[in-house]
Amino acid sequence: MSETDNFKKVIAHAKEYGFVFPSSDIYDGLSAVYDYGQQGVLLKNNIRNYWWKSMVQLNENIVGLDAAIFMHPMTWKASGHVDAFNDPLIDNKDSKKRYRADVLIEDYIAKLEVKIEKEITKATKRFGDAFDRKQFISTNPRVVGYQEKANAISARMAKSLEAEDLADVKALIEELEIACPFSGSKNWTDVKQFNLMFGTKLGASADNATDLYLRPETAQGIFVNFLNVQKSGRMKIPFGIAQTGKAFRNEIVARQFIFRMREFEQMEMQFFIPPGTQKEWYDHWKKTRLNWHLSLGMGEENYRYHDHEKLAHYADAACDIEFKFPFGFKELEGIHSRTNFDLGSHEKHAGKKLQYFDQERNESYTPYVLETSIGLDRMFLAVLSHSLQEEQLEDGNSRTVLRLPAVLAPTKVAILPLVKKDGLPDLARDLVACLKWDYSTTYDAKDAVGRRYRRQDSLGTPYCVTVDHQSLKDQTVTLRERDSMEQIRVTTKELPQLLEAKLNLKNWLTNLKD
Ligand code: GAP
Repeated sequence: MSETDNFKKVIAHAKEYGFVFPSSDIYDGLSAVYDYGQQGVLLKNNIRNYWWKSMVQLNENIVGLDAAIFMHPMTWKASGHVDAFNDPLIDNKDSKKRYRADVLIEDYIAKLEVKIEKEITKATKRFGDAFDRKQFISTNPRVVGYQEKANAISARMAKSLEAEDLADVKALIEELEIACPFSGSKNWTDVKQFNLMFGTKLGASADNATDLYLRPETAQGIFVNFLNVQKSGRMKIPFGIAQTGKAFRNEIVARQFIFRMREFEQMEMQFFIPPGTQKEWYDHWKKTRLNWHLSLGMGEENYRYHDHEKLAHYADAACDIEFKFPFGFKELEGIHSRTNFDLGSHEKHAGKKLQYFDQERNESYTPYVLETSIGLDRMFLAVLSHSLQEEQLEDGNSRTVLRLPAVLAPTKVAILPLVKKDGLPDLARDLVACLKWDYSTTYDAKDAVGRRYRRQDSLGTPYCVTVDHQSLKDQTVTLRERDSMEQIRVTTKELPQLLEAKLNLKNWLTNLKD
């Protein structure tokens, strides 16, 4: 099945099973805005909780914050967003479709990467166990050629964007003969800059209303509260402030479902450090954040770092943690060494000092900042798309299974009475009443038990507990595990303990290596 078909399946599954709906669906949706359904909201909460616990609860020098979405408009002047939060856009004159010029070029590079992967797959088959991937990549003339071409394009684009040389970005698109994906036409306009912030107004009458922006990142709420938190919490540097919340961007290319949305949620952490230590903390957080992803068991091979060549106006180093989405490796999280740009700029614009007196150094300074920033919706898509699988079974049937990391699953346990009579529903209800205090638990008595298992597989429920006639006699039930479909007989007494071992967040987060 092609990548596009796979992705279409993810989107259809998300709607059919109550994970994600298009916003205002009865009005045919609103472009790049989505609602989370009854399953989606649970999965989203669980991801947020997994992040929050690992960041705030497990680190005594990181505290939380919930800053407002509306901020003083000067915030965005100081942060550079008014002047520099732009994307280069280009229109196709024939199809009238608008694109991000850099995304068109990145898509071209991604096609070269696909060609490299194809060569590697062919060679793996040809050479079998003797295949040396590293050596092949560095010596095979076709692979080397594709890689050199990709590197050269990437370097030229970075240079042109850095220098604001938009004419060269257009020239590159033309030289590479990139066509409009919609119409195939190569008839392009010039490249222009487009500011991504949404504006709104505060105030009752039009004459004295203040122009505001919907925040394009949560980070600025943390910067403007730096001293409030530091002083009220008696925080000593190094320390971090973490926050989750909505952000808004008027994305030019809003596609790929919840990958790029106009309203989305971020989970950000700003770590305040002494000047000169940014390299050490950058390496630390790069590693720590990748480990957080790996703790979920979604395969080391599905992640990679991508170091930025073009740095944002505030950064002295930056990288992405990329994930293998159904449409290829793309940014999932950013790690940014933001220097003291933000605090320094707020000092100038607000006319207030945002400094810290370091007793060990016996000096005051404007702290440097190391940022980790992950999109919650993008993480949701990573988890959902990775987990959705179509499986051939030994009996010739197939099943759709959502192999979500159990700790993130919306429902942890489904309790299924084999039949709706003979007192089985009562015992099943008793089990729900006992387990629901610790786990999101569901009761399902509709249809044959096999069909109920399939439905729970599609929802990603890691455990089903079936109550049958024997249960009434000896208080034992069948515990079925989603991925292996293995069934074991256990007593109702030992059930909570067995579930605890598999589902407790602690057992997952202790996998986090330092
Ligand atoms: N404070 C830094 C910052 O906002 P960013 O790289 O622009 O950095 C951080 O965004 C993360 O937010 C991204 O890695 C991505 O996961 C998520 N994100 C950014 N734009 C998004 C969008 N339009 N839709 C969904 N997620 C987005």
